[in-house]
Amino acid sequence: MLPITDHLLDLLGLEKTAFRTYAVSALLLSLLFSFFRLLLQFVQICWAFYTTCRRLRCFRQPPRKNWLMGHLGMYLPNEKGLQDEKKVLDTMHDVLLVWAGPVLPLLVLVHPDYIKPVLSASAAIAPKDEFFYSFLKPWLGDGLLLSKGDKWSRHRRLLTPAFHFDILKPYMKIFNQCANIMHTKWRRHLGEKSVASFDMFEHISLMTLDSLQKCVFSYSSDCQEKMSDYISAIIELSGLVVRRQYRLHHYPNFIYYLSADGRRFRRACDIVHRFTTEVIQERRQALSQQGVEKWLQAKQGKTLDFIDVLLLAKDEDGKELSDEDIRAEADTFMFEGHDTTSSGLSWVLFNLAKYPEYQEKCREEIQEIMKGRELEDLEWDDLTQLPFTTMCIKESLRQFPPVTLVSRRCTEDIKLPDGRIIPKGIICMVNIYGTHHNPTVWPDSKDLGTALDRASPCRRCAWPWHSRCCASA
Ligand code: HEM
Repeated sequence: MLPITDHLLDLLGLEKTAFRTYAVSALLLSLLFSFFRLLLQFVQICWAFYTTCRRLRCFRQPPRKNWLMGHLGMYLPNEKGLQDEKKVLDTMHDVLLVWAGPVLPLLVLVHPDYIKPVLSASAAIAPKDEFFYSFLKPWLGDGLLLSKGDKWSRHRRLLTPAFHFDILKPYMKIFNQCANIMHTKWRRHLGEKSVASFDMFEHISLMTLDSLQKCVFSYSSDCQEKMSDYISAIIELSGLVVRRQYRLHHYPNFIYYLSADGRRFRRACDIVHRFTTEVIQERRQALSQQGVEKWLQAKQGKTLDFIDVLLLAKDEDGKELSDEDIRAEADTFMFEGHDTTSSGLSWVLFNLAKYPEYQEKCREEIQEIMKGRELEDLEWDDLTQLPFTTMCIKESLRQFPPVTLVSRRCTEDIKLPDGRIIPKGIICMVNIYGTHHNPTVWPDSKDLGTALDRASPCRRCAWPWHSRCCASA
């Protein structure tokens, strides 16, 4: 810096004057000032870290891998990770402290009483945490799953009509139709190849994607029979997001997008976005040509799909959702709707295959409903007449929850029932899997068999665990 200052003073012809002393002193002072500012900031960060660590001392932690990695990579969402997690739960039953690397502490909540204060706090006090959802952002944008604050509240209100029974009821026809396509495929598969087993997950994923594409876009791609670019892009994106979680070196965006996976992710995102944007634009054009009244008249007796609901949605000020907002919500529903349900359904079938006696009971329950019917389709009202089947589905979701973790960042101190405090700024992991396997909440909850042998289901919620069902709430 000093030679540059000298050169500058030389150019200005001020080199040999008293001004040089002032200029050099001012420069040195400002350098010193900047240095102390940086030092102060560093001390403040260290102090805040030290204080947080002290405040976190009251939380127990399982042994770390090492000081650098902390607990990173120890409890991945695979079979081994989940089994290791169960072992930890034998000794720690409410809140665990884990370290993602040397300086990022996380509190893992594994008991409903400890989860409640975090999830019942307002969205401003415990917003969704960006760090763990950020891999989905380029695909899902600011849809409900990833948005926060005012945008989330506004969209949540605008989307409420999409969950009205009148909108959902007609979807039963679509679900029946898609399940029938899958069953026909299975029969053909078994007939042609005479094989006794095949991977059901793939078939169920296609069935859920087919249902969603029809419910969200009214679009029939026949994807259960022949793969479409759009559907294979969604399957690819879901796989890539999971794979990225396992590869720490792919966490920084600038490395990821240079890798082969990152390039495939970008390409697949483009395909998905192009499809959604085209549907929205075509539909908006038709809506503006016909006008809302005529449009709704034409829809009478037909199924109103998710895009229709979003296009017609208006807030209190009469403001509509933009095309980009609609795209984010539709892409979010396609992801959230297929990934969760295909995993959930696959585990239900796994459990029923493991316990043929319960499978038979479910079959009898359904056959009883179907007695004397011409069409072998389940109807909306039938769903409440299947207590045993519902109980099996709920118990299977408890054992194998499709979403194992959700995360929140506490922007204020949050008090736990035992008086301990979650310090402001900490990321909390609501461990759904851990909670569902917490021995203090579910004693003797080994598997579906032990659960179903226990009791008849609650009449209100069909939950097999009476002490934990809605009746005890
Ligand atoms: C067994 C099935 C399902 C399970 C286990 C499941 C699980 C979850 C969980 C745990 C969250 C909370 C995420 C968080 O707060 O961080 C969530 C949010 C969400 N799910 Fe699902 N889900 C299922 C089915 C579906 C379906 C079928 C759809 C749509 C078609 C859907 C759409 C959404 C959306 C839009 C959100 C964000 C809601 C918000 O933050 O306001 N989910 N889901």
